[in-house]
Amino acid sequence: MASFPPPPVNTIDWSNVGFRVREVNGHIESHYSHKTGKWTPLQFVTDPYIRIHGMAPALNYGQQAYEGLKAFRTPSGNIQVFRPDRNAVRMQHSAEFISVPPVPTDLFIDAVKAAVSLNAEYVPPHETGAAMYIRPQIYGSSAQLGLSPPEEYTFCVYVLPTGVYHGTHPVNALILDEFDRAAPNGTGSAKVGGNYAPVLRWSDKARAEGYGITLHLDSATHSEVDEFSTSGFIGAVVNGEDVTLVVPDSKNVIQSVTADSITDIGRSFGWKVEKRSKFSEVMAAGTAAALVPIRSITRRLDPASPQSISSAVGEHNRLSKEAGSEKVTYIADSNEDAGPICLKLLTQLKGIQLGKVKDEFGWCSAV
Ligand code: COI
Repeated sequence: MASFPPPPVNTIDWSNVGFRVREVNGHIESHYSHKTGKWTPLQFVTDPYIRIHGMAPALNYGQQAYEGLKAFRTPSGNIQVFRPDRNAVRMQHSAEFISVPPVPTDLFIDAVKAAVSLNAEYVPPHETGAAMYIRPQIYGSSAQLGLSPPEEYTFCVYVLPTGVYHGTHPVNALILDEFDRAAPNGTGSAKVGGNYAPVLRWSDKARAEGYGITLHLDSATHSEVDEFSTSGFIGAVVNGEDVTLVVPDSKNVIQSVTADSITDIGRSFGWKVEKRSKFSEVMAAGTAAALVPIRSITRRLDPASPQSISSAVGEHNRLSKEAGSEKVTYIADSNEDAGPICLKLLTQLKGIQLGKVKDEFGWCSAV
């Protein structure tokens, strides 16, 4: 019998994995019916296309939620998943918002590990620093016309090899002032597709104008930071030897497992963690994103008249700077490199995830 885990396949250029969908061996499925009140035993399905009724509330009313987590290959070639218990709980939180029966934590973790191990040859080589991205999903899958929960639900776990979403160089961020991601008492903390699809036209436009990432403010007052469209927000305040990591104080953000891990790592360095707003460095944290250094944050005083970012990011100072109709509220010290805080945190996080640094937190789970 072949030993587990198998080495990475040689059909993929591992030096250029990118962040896109690649076909693998298959995915895991489980189904729930109100008749039985149970999720069925996990099933491995090779067809990436799923069976769903065209009148399912997932397709018509957005009754759908998803997760994102990663598996890594350690120096010895073994495979470990990063904090799957946290994603299980977050998916249960999202499920409540959309009236889908929760997937029990044990079933969630078993499904994640089954999906990874049955596709183990697609977990990237350790040296690349890349990972297997894991995408669990839940949705209402049987036909239902009225606005009430359907009879049947599907839970799937897809996996695919990926690099990090935004790359590793600092990116420019644009505050989205014309669009509110989540209503003050709405679904902002749930990882539901409805929090993502409406952002597409804004993030696409921002990307075309040179902003690699977009930032949402609180919808009620537009005075506080909520989160990036793809990831959680972390600021760093450095005062001599004292470092404080700052995270938004908002009930409308996704509870980022990566951001929580980063703040725990910060605490383990003796740094403080606070919820407020003036920074030496700004980072975006997410499973897909890992940790992205933010080069600048721009707020448009007049959103109707965009300017090129080169005029706004010309001078490197920390002060707010008004350039025509734009106000650059944050500029990093370096255009090209991540700041020292970001590098220190990312090195420690990747070290733990890739099994190079001892996992004092007990976050990694062997497959
Ligand atoms: C993740 O970081 O896992 C996400 O779900 C973000 C997504 C936009 C790729």
